[in-house]
Amino acid sequence: MKLDYRYYDTIDSTNLEIRRLFAEGAGEGTIAFAGTQTAGRGRTGHSWKSPENVSVATSLLLTPPQDLSMSRIPRLTVLAAMAVMKTIEEEYQLDCGIKWPNDILIGGKKICGILTEMEAEGGFARCVVVGIGVNVHQRSEDFPEEIKEMATSLDLELEKKDLSSGGKRASRLTVTEGIWQHFTAYYQEFIRTGGSLESILEEYNLHLVNRDQRVRILDPKGEYEAKALGMAPDGSLEILLDDGRIRNVDSGEVHVRGLYGYA
Ligand code: BTN
Repeated sequence: MKLDYRYYDTIDSTNLEIRRLFAEGAGEGTIAFAGTQTAGRGRTGHSWKSPENVSVATSLLLTPPQDLSMSRIPRLTVLAAMAVMKTIEEEYQLDCGIKWPNDILIGGKKICGILTEMEAEGGFARCVVVGIGVNVHQRSEDFPEEIKEMATSLDLELEKKDLSSGGKRASRLTVTEGIWQHFTAYYQEFIRTGGSLESILEEYNLHLVNRDQRVRILDPKGEYEAKALGMAPDGSLEILLDDGRIRNVDSGEVHVRGLYGYA
């Protein structure tokens, strides 16, 4: 896939911009990245803050083959999480964990957010937008009060790791390019295999912070506790219930929370 980068000093949302570019005829591989977003979008209708020039805010346009089942599109969010993790580990040697399904954590704190959106027509996805925000230069006082305890940035983590060297600063461009390079390699394999997560499953589960931990399943039909076993090949989380039964829960239906702290 040929990547076509478009930079904006200020934009409402890179996800929205990709949808506009698609409507104007842009093709797969178009990437928007921005210095700041004025209306960044988060999951479940939340907003996402991208203060000026301190974070990565970027989105990629995909036009998956029509024979890829729409039910597999949410798995792209898992590929995006893997791409973020790989980039951070390779470029900055910071250890990352994954909170199922797609939160990347450093030292138990969230470093990035991913929002995958699609436009469907006639039973297939015409256009998929994978949007990623990574905290890069934020200081702890830059985070809103309600997420301060749960969020971190690459610079903060680099400083913690290597206080003596005066602090290596992360680069937003390096992170952006690294993410899309890794993502496109994962995506190629994903499409080749008809939307399988098999090739990343082992590495994903090795980083899963929920693995073998007790978790609370926030099921709208009723909350309960169980032990998380790992992500299954279809992207669901395999859990062991207290009565010994094994069940798979889907990220579209339930959220998972650790019993102690965010993860
Ligand atoms: C989350 O709620 O965790 C997901 C946040 C996703 C934010 C990114 S920033 C780039 C892209 N553009 C948006 O408007 N949202 C995503």
